[in-house]
Amino acid sequence: MTSIVIVGGFYGDEGKGKIVSYLAMKDNPAIAVRGGVGPNAGHTIEHKGKTYKVRMLPSAFLNPTTRLLVGPGVVISQDVLLKEINEFGVQDRTFVDYQCGIIEESHRVADSKGRLKESIGSTGTGTGPANADRAMRTLKLAKDVDSLALYLDDIPNAVNFALEREEKVMVEGTQGTFLSLWHGTYPYVTSKDVTASAICADIGLGPKNVDEVMVVFKSYVTRVGEGPLKNELSQETAGLKGWKETGTVTGRTRRAADFDFDLAKRAVMLNSATQIALTKLDVIYPECAHMQSFSDLSSPAKYFVKNIEEQLKVPVTLIGTGADADDVIDRRKEL
Ligand code: IMP
Ligand code: MG
Repeated sequence: MTSIVIVGGFYGDEGKGKIVSYLAMKDNPAIAVRGGVGPNAGHTIEHKGKTYKVRMLPSAFLNPTTRLLVGPGVVISQDVLLKEINEFGVQDRTFVDYQCGIIEESHRVADSKGRLKESIGSTGTGTGPANADRAMRTLKLAKDVDSLALYLDDIPNAVNFALEREEKVMVEGTQGTFLSLWHGTYPYVTSKDVTASAICADIGLGPKNVDEVMVVFKSYVTRVGEGPLKNELSQETAGLKGWKETGTVTGRTRRAADFDFDLAKRAVMLNSATQIALTKLDVIYPECAHMQSFSDLSSPAKYFVKNIEEQLKVPVTLIGTGADADDVIDRRKEL
């Protein structure tokens, strides 16, 4: 397996960051490349007692030898990107495409008020207005701004060249399938398609060069911002179940519901999933916390996983059992 694309199967916040950082340390990819929307994404990674939050860089940065790339389909906030590059000390291995779009103050202002803020519940990070300007062909590109000069590269070329040399490439999506501009709960969606095909287009990877598509589902569904959420629980019930979460970017409380098989089936179809990563199993079955072997799981937890496999007809290869990037049951060898 040389290329793997990792995307969210629900409404974002499925735990992609954690899964990506586990795979980055385990599989040692030469390249981790981000597609997706922009700094509206928030990926949280915990490792050895430290918490990291990334909004622009690939979540694979914990592996010190992985090159960190951002594809031309992504819109960049210079402040956020440069801050993360400095914070994580990855100056020598971060590259963004010449043609990444640039978010400016005017985009953030437009995104932080009116209909986008109040009715859609946008993150206010300027990604939607920037993508609108890109469609109008007025958006500035990374090659036009001085602050990014050191970090520019031809990302599609880097990705495809690595694959030719049979190096491992990990492709990171953002948000989740049902926040897709095409396939989500329009108009309560983000400003781009975020399914696997779109993430590949964002970085210049053609469909024949994708080996694996991993869809990440959390063991329950959450959603921030506006829009429908089937069987939404009251905040009180969500709290009692221990499902109360707050957003990485906006700090808003996430709405919650049980695992939704209809949504999951559709996500498997839309992304042509070959593998499923299931996160936060320990939140539903606390007795399984930090486990690293499937055989150690309690019977109800095993049944929960097997039922997902039976209904979705895709193997659950990774299972998250805690917040640390290493709290993972890796079944790829047994399945
Ligand atoms: P925008 O992408 O900032 O325009 O926000 C549009 C909708 O997508 C809002 O409901 C946001 O809360 C949601 N959204 C955007 N990015 C994320 C994410 O990374 N995780 C979860 N929800 C997101
Ligand atoms: Mg998030």
